[in-house]
Amino acid sequence: MDSYRLEHFIEDMEDFLAKQPDLSQIMAEGKQYVQSLLTNSAILDDILTSLVLDDAFLQAQYQAIDPNDIIIYRSPQRTFSLRAYIWEPGVRYPIHDHGSWGIVGAYLNPVRERKYTRLDHGQDANSVRLEVKSDEILPPGQITTVLPIDDGIHQMENPGDRVAVSLHVYGKAIRKGYIQYYDPHFNTVRRVYPPNNYTRALAIRTLGAIAQPWAKKVLQQGTQSNLPEYMKAECHDALLR
Ligand SMILES: [Fe+2]
Repeated sequence: MDSYRLEHFIEDMEDFLAKQPDLSQIMAEGKQYVQSLLTNSAILDDILTSLVLDDAFLQAQYQAIDPNDIIIYRSPQRTFSLRAYIWEPGVRYPIHDHGSWGIVGAYLNPVRERKYTRLDHGQDANSVRLEVKSDEILPPGQITTVLPIDDGIHQMENPGDRVAVSLHVYGKAIRKGYIQYYDPHFNTVRRVYPPNNYTRALAIRTLGAIAQPWAKKVLQQGTQSNLPEYMKAECHDALLR
Protein backbone atom coordinates (compact mmCIF):
# COMPACT_ATOMS: atom_id res chain seq x y z
CA MET A 1 0.00 0.00 0.00
CA ASP A 2 1.28 3.47 -0.85
CA SER A 3 1.95 5.62 2.18
CA TYR A 4 -0.17 8.67 2.88
CA ARG A 5 1.51 11.46 0.96
CA LEU A 6 2.18 14.91 2.36
CA GLU A 7 0.10 16.55 -0.42
CA HIS A 8 -2.86 14.38 0.53
CA PHE A 9 -2.51 15.22 4.19
CA ILE A 10 -2.43 18.95 3.37
CA GLU A 11 -5.45 18.64 1.11
CA ASP A 12 -7.39 16.61 3.70
CA MET A 13 -6.57 19.03 6.55
CA GLU A 14 -7.40 22.11 4.43
CA ASP A 15 -10.78 20.62 3.42
CA PHE A 16 -11.56 19.41 6.92
CA LEU A 17 -10.70 22.70 8.68
CA ALA A 18 -12.55 24.74 6.02
CA LYS A 19 -15.73 23.16 7.41
CA GLN A 20 -14.94 24.89 10.72
CA PRO A 21 -15.16 21.82 12.94
CA ASP A 22 -15.27 22.32 16.72
CA LEU A 23 -12.39 21.38 18.97
CA SER A 24 -13.63 17.87 19.74
CA GLN A 25 -14.09 17.14 16.01
CA ILE A 26 -10.60 18.48 15.31
CA MET A 27 -9.12 16.27 18.00
CA ALA A 28 -10.97 13.20 16.69
CA GLU A 29 -10.70 13.57 12.91
CA GLY A 30 -7.52 15.63 12.70
CA LYS A 31 -5.82 13.01 14.82
CA GLN A 32 -6.58 10.36 12.19
CA TYR A 33 -4.91 12.38 9.42
CA VAL A 34 -1.82 12.92 11.57
CA GLN A 35 -1.80 9.24 12.52
CA SER A 36 -1.77 8.31 8.83
CA LEU A 37 0.95 10.83 8.05
CA LEU A 38 3.20 9.27 10.69
CA THR A 39 3.32 6.09 8.60
CA ASN A 40 5.03 7.97 5.74
CA SER A 41 8.72 7.57 6.47
CA ALA A 42 9.84 9.93 3.67
CA ILE A 43 8.24 13.22 4.73
CA LEU A 44 11.46 14.87 5.87
CA ASP A 45 13.82 13.53 3.20
CA ASP A 46 13.78 16.58 0.92
CA ILE A 47 13.60 19.17 3.66
CA LEU A 48 16.54 17.73 5.63
CA THR A 49 18.60 17.46 2.45
CA SER A 50 17.89 21.08 1.53
CA LEU A 51 18.55 22.36 5.05
CA VAL A 52 22.02 20.84 4.87
CA LEU A 53 23.01 21.44 1.26
CA ASP A 54 21.04 24.47 0.06
CA ASP A 55 22.05 27.71 1.73
CA ALA A 56 19.29 29.77 0.10
CA PHE A 57 16.67 27.31 1.34
CA LEU A 58 18.06 27.52 4.87
CA GLN A 59 18.10 31.33 4.84
CA ALA A 60 14.50 31.46 3.53
CA GLN A 61 13.14 29.44 6.46
CA TYR A 62 10.37 31.01 8.50
CA GLN A 63 11.76 32.02 11.88
CA ALA A 64 9.91 29.99 14.46
CA ILE A 65 10.27 30.58 18.19
CA ASP A 66 12.29 27.41 18.75
CA PRO A 67 15.30 26.63 16.54
CA ASN A 68 14.43 22.91 16.71
CA ASP A 69 11.08 23.67 15.00
CA ILE A 70 11.10 23.06 11.22
CA ILE A 71 8.05 24.37 9.44
CA ILE A 72 6.94 21.97 6.72
CA TYR A 73 3.71 23.70 5.69
CA ARG A 74 1.68 26.77 6.64
CA SER A 75 -1.88 27.03 5.44
CA PRO A 76 -2.40 30.22 3.37
CA GLN A 77 -5.52 30.90 5.48
CA ARG A 78 -3.45 30.23 8.64
CA THR A 79 -5.91 27.51 9.70
CA PHE A 80 -3.03 25.16 10.50
CA SER A 81 0.68 24.53 10.19
CA LEU A 82 2.67 21.31 10.06
CA ARG A 83 6.02 21.24 11.79
CA ALA A 84 8.75 18.75 12.63
CA TYR A 85 10.43 19.18 16.01
CA ILE A 86 13.91 17.79 16.48
CA TRP A 87 14.77 16.53 19.96
CA GLU A 88 18.39 16.06 20.83
CA PRO A 89 19.31 13.43 23.40
CA GLY A 90 20.27 14.86 26.76
CA VAL A 91 18.75 18.31 26.11
CA ARG A 92 16.07 19.38 28.59
CA TYR A 93 13.55 21.45 26.60
CA PRO A 94 11.55 24.05 28.56
CA ILE A 95 8.01 23.52 29.84
CA HIS A 96 5.81 25.74 27.66
CA ASP A 97 2.31 26.62 26.52
CA HIS A 98 0.86 27.15 23.01
CA GLY A 99 -1.31 29.77 21.37
CA SER A 100 -3.48 27.13 19.68
CA TRP A 101 -4.62 23.53 19.74
CA GLY A 102 -2.04 20.99 18.65
CA ILE A 103 -1.85 17.37 17.52
CA VAL A 104 1.57 15.85 18.09
CA GLY A 105 2.84 12.47 16.94
CA ALA A 106 6.13 10.71 17.63
CA TYR A 107 7.79 10.14 14.24
CA LEU A 108 11.44 9.09 14.52
CA ASN A 109 12.44 7.42 17.80
CA PRO A 110 10.39 7.79 21.01
CA VAL A 111 9.69 11.14 22.68
CA ARG A 112 8.73 11.75 26.29
CA GLU A 113 5.93 14.15 27.16
CA ARG A 114 5.04 15.50 30.57
CA LYS A 115 1.74 17.34 30.82
CA TYR A 116 1.18 19.89 33.58
CA THR A 117 -1.81 21.33 35.38
CA ARG A 118 -1.60 25.02 36.22
CA LEU A 119 -2.61 25.41 39.86
CA ASP A 120 -2.66 29.22 40.07
CA HIS A 121 -4.95 31.40 37.97
CA GLY A 122 -2.30 33.57 36.37
CA GLN A 123 -3.00 36.52 38.70
CA ASP A 124 0.70 37.37 38.62
CA ALA A 125 1.98 37.41 35.02
CA ASN A 126 5.47 36.44 36.16
CA SER A 127 4.74 33.52 38.44
CA VAL A 128 3.18 30.08 38.10
CA ARG A 129 2.46 26.95 40.12
CA LEU A 130 2.50 23.69 38.19
CA GLU A 131 1.79 20.08 38.96
CA VAL A 132 2.68 17.08 36.75
CA LYS A 133 -0.50 15.59 35.29
CA SER A 134 1.02 12.82 33.15
CA ASP A 135 4.42 11.54 32.12
CA GLU A 136 4.54 9.26 29.08
CA ILE A 137 6.95 7.91 26.54
CA LEU A 138 5.42 7.93 23.07
CA PRO A 139 6.78 5.38 20.61
CA PRO A 140 6.79 6.36 16.90
CA GLY A 141 3.21 6.37 15.61
CA GLN A 142 1.65 7.48 18.91
CA ILE A 143 -0.25 10.75 19.20
CA THR A 144 -0.77 13.28 21.98
CA THR A 145 -2.77 16.52 21.88
CA VAL A 146 -2.51 19.96 23.46
CA LEU A 147 -5.06 22.71 24.03
CA PRO A 148 -4.37 26.46 23.92
CA ILE A 149 -2.74 28.48 26.74
CA ASP A 150 -3.09 27.09 30.29
CA ASP A 151 -4.84 23.88 29.22
CA GLY A 152 -1.90 22.61 27.18
CA ILE A 153 1.21 23.19 29.27
CA HIS A 154 3.74 20.45 28.58
CA GLN A 155 7.34 19.49 28.12
CA MET A 156 8.90 17.31 25.47
CA GLU A 157 12.10 15.41 25.92
CA ASN A 158 14.13 12.73 24.16
CA PRO A 159 14.43 9.74 26.48
CA GLY A 160 16.89 7.88 24.22
CA ASP A 161 20.40 8.40 22.96
CA ARG A 162 19.58 9.09 19.29
CA VAL A 163 17.97 12.20 17.84
CA ALA A 164 14.17 12.00 17.86
CA VAL A 165 11.61 13.83 15.69
CA SER A 166 7.92 14.48 16.29
CA LEU A 167 5.39 15.90 13.83
CA HIS A 168 3.12 18.69 15.09
CA VAL A 169 -0.03 20.20 13.63
CA TYR A 170 -1.07 23.50 15.20
CA GLY A 171 -4.32 25.32 14.57
CA LYS A 172 -5.16 29.00 14.29
CA ALA A 173 -3.59 30.84 17.21
CA ILE A 174 -5.95 32.46 19.70
CA ARG A 175 -2.90 34.15 21.22
CA LYS A 176 -0.36 35.32 18.65
CA GLY A 177 3.27 36.36 18.68
CA TYR A 178 4.74 34.55 21.66
CA ILE A 179 4.63 31.49 23.89
CA GLN A 180 5.52 31.17 27.55
CA TYR A 181 8.27 29.11 29.13
CA TYR A 182 7.77 27.96 32.71
CA ASP A 183 10.38 27.19 35.32
CA PRO A 184 8.84 24.81 37.88
CA HIS A 185 11.79 25.18 40.23
CA PHE A 186 11.55 28.95 40.61
CA ASN A 187 7.82 29.09 39.67
CA THR A 188 8.55 31.71 37.03
CA VAL A 189 7.01 32.51 33.63
CA ARG A 190 8.91 33.97 30.70
CA ARG A 191 7.51 35.21 27.38
CA VAL A 192 9.52 34.08 24.38
CA TYR A 193 9.26 35.33 20.81
CA PRO A 194 10.61 34.39 17.38
CA PRO A 195 14.26 35.56 16.99
CA ASN A 196 13.76 39.14 15.69
CA ASN A 197 11.01 39.99 18.09
CA TYR A 198 12.92 38.37 20.91
CA THR A 199 15.83 40.71 20.28
CA ARG A 200 13.38 43.63 20.31
CA ALA A 201 11.87 42.43 23.61
CA LEU A 202 15.34 42.13 25.13
CA ALA A 203 16.13 45.70 24.00
CA ILE A 204 12.90 46.87 25.66
CA ARG A 205 13.74 45.03 28.88
CA THR A 206 17.23 46.55 28.82
CA LEU A 207 15.77 50.04 28.41
CA GLY A 208 13.68 49.28 31.48
CA ALA A 209 16.89 48.68 33.41
CA ILE A 210 18.44 52.00 32.30
CA ALA A 211 17.10 54.59 34.73
CA GLN A 212 17.53 57.58 32.44
CA PRO A 213 14.96 59.92 30.90
CA TRP A 214 15.94 59.06 27.29
CA ALA A 215 15.31 55.35 27.90
CA LYS A 216 11.94 56.09 29.50
CA LYS A 217 11.05 58.27 26.52
CA VAL A 218 11.77 55.45 24.04
CA LEU A 219 9.58 53.07 26.06
CA GLN A 220 6.79 55.65 26.22
CA GLN A 221 7.01 56.07 22.44
CA GLY A 222 6.84 52.28 22.18
CA THR A 223 3.59 52.13 24.15
CA GLN A 224 2.03 54.64 21.73
CA SER A 225 3.45 53.16 18.53
CA ASN A 226 2.01 50.69 16.07
CA LEU A 227 3.92 47.80 17.66
CA PRO A 228 1.80 44.69 18.30
CA GLU A 229 -0.08 44.72 21.61
CA TYR A 230 2.24 42.15 23.22
CA MET A 231 5.27 44.33 22.41
CA LYS A 232 3.52 47.44 23.77
CA ALA A 233 2.89 45.39 26.92
CA GLU A 234 6.65 44.73 27.11
CA CYS A 235 7.25 48.52 26.93
CA HIS A 236 4.61 49.12 29.58
CA ASP A 237 6.12 46.49 31.92
CA ALA A 238 9.62 47.89 31.36
CA LEU A 239 8.40 51.36 32.37
CA LEU A 240 7.20 49.97 35.70
CA ARG A 241 10.59 48.46 36.55
FE1 LIG B 1 4.59 21.99 22.72
